[in-house]
Amino acid sequence: MAVRRDAAPRVGILMGSDSDLPVMREAGRVLTEFGVPYELTIASAHRSPARVDRYASEAEGRGLAVLIAGAGGAAHLAGVLAARTVLPVIGVPLGGSAIGGFDALLATVQMPAGVPVATVGIGGARNAALLAVQILATGDPELRERLRAYKARLAAEVEEKAGRLAASPEPGMVPPRPPREAP
Ligand code: RP5
Repeated sequence: MAVRRDAAPRVGILMGSDSDLPVMREAGRVLTEFGVPYELTIASAHRSPARVDRYASEAEGRGLAVLIAGAGGAAHLAGVLAARTVLPVIGVPLGGSAIGGFDALLATVQMPAGVPVATVGIGGARNAALLAVQILATGDPELRERLRAYKARLAAEVEEKAGRLAASPEPGMVPPRPPREAP
């Protein structure tokens, strides 16, 4: 869906490094799919704490409604943002570290009580964007309709895949029976 280039961004996507871009650009793709204007930048909780602080303190005043933060390793970006803003923050723990992102997952998800970060799975930029759309959709019926259409497409894809599998069954596979109707 075309998003006007001069539209005010509603979602701010941050990432700790440009090395996070190959994963985090997927969040931007999804937001564009839903017609949600977003901005994307780099800020590191450890290497440029003042930039993160400034971004978080100014985000609400600039009209952003949801923040998405992707970081790897000792990933404090989402938590530091959440400390500095009342906007909802969605954290994307990123893989690529020596321990495959488990460090980033724990650092992002294990926030102390009082400062939530909605954490998606490792590398889950797509889900982060969908969650951001769902948050925006609570006050936007048109966006809710787009989400409904998206879910219908997901279900249709599963039907199609199941149909393809049934049409070329695996060796020894008993043909699937249609699901039983609810009484
Ligand atoms: C984190 O360290 C970044 O989010 C990135 O995932 C990781 C490695 O950063 P680079 O050394 O590639 O810049 O802060």
